[in-house]
Amino acid sequence: MLKKLPNEAYGLSLSLVEISDASDIVALRSSPELTKYMVTVEKNVEKQEEWINEYKKREQRGEDLYFAYRQKDLLVGFARISHINYEKGTCSLSSWIKNPAVQSVGSRMLLSRFDIAFEYLNLNEVHASIHKDNNKALRHWQCFNCSLEGKENGYNNVAISIEEYYKIKDSYYKKFIKNLI
Ligand SMILES: CC(C)(COP(=O)(O)OP(=O)(O)OC[C@H]1O[C@@H](n2cnc3c(N)ncnc32)[C@H](O)[C@@H]1OP(=O)(O)O)[C@@H](O)C(=O)NCCC(=O)NCCS
Repeated sequence: MLKKLPNEAYGLSLSLVEISDASDIVALRSSPELTKYMVTVEKNVEKQEEWINEYKKREQRGEDLYFAYRQKDLLVGFARISHINYEKGTCSLSSWIKNPAVQSVGSRMLLSRFDIAFEYLNLNEVHASIHKDNNKALRHWQCFNCSLEGKENGYNNVAISIEEYYKIKDSYYKKFIKNLI
């Protein structure tokens, strides 16, 4: 049986995305600068609400988890665990974006999703597709000795196994998170 998802991780609160998050998602995801290496969404809150409605169906089926992260009342950002496949034991980490006004939270957003994938969903391999020039995102994955599974249209398909994650997790935590909480 699945454990109840955490509502706190590494000093950040996390909650599943609701319709009320649409305007905050649009504000970040419609910025051409912030979304240079990911899909830029239209500046249209109604369309985003429709997208969230569809997402909620996937969430109900256990296929997709989209988290809003906050520090006290300040919005920190959004990130997803998508394409959850219990048979294969895999998922993808996607839609990772942080409020540029908040520093040093990217690593906490990432670690919290690895923990959920491996400890709460009991998966054993986590995937991501990251643009080859997105150094800010890639450097985090490279810390975990991610394997390069392939390259497609300028994106690197990377993966991290549960074994590799637990070899590195403590040193990553000490280096990028411990002193910040
Ligand atoms: C991807 C993203 C969430 C990563 O967050 P981040 O930029 O690392 O931000 P943080 O505030 O956590 O890190 C800031 C500092 O922590 C340090 N740091 C933290 N983790 C680090 C790591 N794993 N390796 C190196 N430095 C790290 C660095 O000193 C960094 O300072 P710098 O930005 O001046 O180099 C953020 O860059 C973002 O929102 N990008 C736009 C959207 C996007 O491209 N998403 C990814 C799609 S795959």
